[in-house]
Amino acid sequence: ANKYVTVTAPVNIATLKYWGKRDRFLNLPTNSSISVTLSQDDLKTTTSVCYSKNFESDALYLNGNEESLSSPRQQSCLKLLRKCRIEKEEQDPSLDKIASLPLHIVSVNNFPTAAGLASSAAGYAAMVYSIAKLYQLDLDRSELSKIARQGSGSACRSLYGGFVAWEMGSLDNGSDSKAVQIAPRAHWPGIRAAILVVSAAKKEVPSTGGMQLTVKTSDLFDYRVKQVVPARYEEMKKAILAKDFGVFAELTMKDSNSFHAVCLDSYPPIFYMNDTSKRIVKVITTINEAYGRNVAAYTFDAGPNAVIYYEEKDEDIVLGTLHEFFGSVPGWAKKSGKSFSVPRKFPIEKFDHDVFSKGVSRVILTSVGEGPTLVPES
Ligand code: DP6
Repeated sequence: ANKYVTVTAPVNIATLKYWGKRDRFLNLPTNSSISVTLSQDDLKTTTSVCYSKNFESDALYLNGNEESLSSPRQQSCLKLLRKCRIEKEEQDPSLDKIASLPLHIVSVNNFPTAAGLASSAAGYAAMVYSIAKLYQLDLDRSELSKIARQGSGSACRSLYGGFVAWEMGSLDNGSDSKAVQIAPRAHWPGIRAAILVVSAAKKEVPSTGGMQLTVKTSDLFDYRVKQVVPARYEEMKKAILAKDFGVFAELTMKDSNSFHAVCLDSYPPIFYMNDTSKRIVKVITTINEAYGRNVAAYTFDAGPNAVIYYEEKDEDIVLGTLHEFFGSVPGWAKKSGKSFSVPRKFPIEKFDHDVFSKGVSRVILTSVGEGPTLVPES
């Protein structure tokens, strides 16, 4: 049996947002959501886990520092995984009794935590996937997603690559609230994402607290959850299966708007987008108008960073425009033989360059990617 396992897990960015819990201990959501898993070439968490009778207790090392492993969320993930291993050992007495041995979990991100990118999804997905492999559990990714969900809701979607849905489920115990794959990466490999890291001066409202406030105080929230999201969820799945970027982009932008609207409608209001975020919306809206179709879609999570989805075939248009404003910040891949230039149809003269090129500190150019992967022992 393996005493030591290493895995990598991806980040995912929702195109239909999870916002609101019907059970905050089990992380059961008030609506189903959809995301795109991003390539681990650019963003990933690598987690190694091992057990030993010589360890004093469980321990977690995050980017080189020992961190507490005592949060209820971490503890429920560990407990559930150990329970599965105990059941396995009871069924097969020939197996090593390892479920009760202390674990050391060592986790690193290949992207700066300071970039303000949500790393908890990749982190919990990596932790759950690595321990499941170490324990040799025969659970499929949907089953594992239910465990990761209890760490952080959005983490459940990082158990799959490609295009992923989190089905909200209806049961009180959460056994039907899980991630499923809508389509693998190979179905629509031309999907690209440009992450514009917006230098946030103020600290954001953490998502858990923000959700609670929205559920409790927003009048719009009920309308979003009951009247808007269910139909949008079906339409977005259809658009992904049909590879209809125009529709996918429209739904993505509308859902980002809707999520930030219920935040604004919370009392007191929650502002995640800042002036830079709003200027990015203006730029994307203008490209789409200039081309008479949606060549790009913006989406914003619980912070000011923008994620721009587009198709590879429109790379010159989208990156040409973004480069015009943000070309001086780090992160532009030097593509040999390719220079960025503002596309002919984009009305650059309408923009005050000095104003619009402010506020972005880094660009990460990436694409749709694969789910958690076991790293072979070397
Ligand atoms: C805006 O998954 O971070 O990114 O379940 O409390 O850990 P917890 O919340 P979290 O919330 C993510 C919110 C979001 C939208 C999304 O990813 O769907």
